[in-house]
Amino acid sequence: MNKLSTKHLLGIKNLTKQDIELILATADNFKEVINRPIKKVPSLRDITIANLFFENSTRTKLSFELAEKRLSADVINFSASGSSVKKGETLIDTVNNILAMKVDMVVMRHANAGAASFLAKHVNAKIINAGDGAHEHPTQALLDAYSIKQKLGTIKGKKVAIIGDILHSRVALSNIFCLQKLGAEVLVCGPTTLIPRYICALGVKVETNLRTALEWCDVANMLRIQIERQDIKYFPSLREYTMLYGVNKSLLDSIKKEIVIMHPGPINRGVEITSDVADSKQAIILEQVENGVAVRMAVLYLLAGRN
Ligand code: CP
Repeated sequence: MNKLSTKHLLGIKNLTKQDIELILATADNFKEVINRPIKKVPSLRDITIANLFFENSTRTKLSFELAEKRLSADVINFSASGSSVKKGETLIDTVNNILAMKVDMVVMRHANAGAASFLAKHVNAKIINAGDGAHEHPTQALLDAYSIKQKLGTIKGKKVAIIGDILHSRVALSNIFCLQKLGAEVLVCGPTTLIPRYICALGVKVETNLRTALEWCDVANMLRIQIERQDIKYFPSLREYTMLYGVNKSLLDSIKKEIVIMHPGPINRGVEITSDVADSKQAIILEQVENGVAVRMAVLYLLAGRN
């Protein structure tokens, strides 16, 4: 099949293995494009895309905008801060006003889980979820899978540990769905208070000891503590969290194999990861960012039905 089974990209849960493989294979072509001297193709020159960011973002927002421009789409950007949302305008009214300007696709980040699915039911454009609360962040999982494949040659059979604040992480959930569909084994590691009870039902291993998790895995995906989503205290202090769950060079050096280190960003240096690890050859954090543009180009291109 060379077509996606879905009209929107709302989450990885709704994608088939074939959808994911098609996106990753298409991203290979766009990776070649963005490494050319002229990094642009005319594929979406008749398409207008609105990037609606109701929540802060650096990587996802810039990566989508660049991907759209590399595909020659017309792009409009909206941030909730400084908009009429501050005067009480609803999500549907905001989006319908933007769509009245003849927009074909909407990329949306929102603090509420389910916001992208809600929009897909109420408006006529194609919707891409750029992160909805603690629910899903599908393009992050796709670029993470692409980066693992690029580094290790395959995802099938690899062991991936997702370490940190699993409870508040949309990256964790999308990565679990994506990696399992592609045949990887997934383990989550963190303090018990930051691991949701439902996680065992997803078929992942659960580990509270960081060293055991690192000794098990081929890839460690480090997540930050999402203080902004925490309304109660889940651990005594950041210092104690770092002592038990922070990855540093001496810990990694004491593990008898080379693990690939990933991080979706933003990094809290010195908390979940030290700078000497984040900036080391073992880490592929900036490769993830580079691959994000190619993967998002692939998603936009396929959803526009251009293949
Ligand atoms: N990884 C990620 O989603 O980063 P931003 O919040 O900066 O977009």
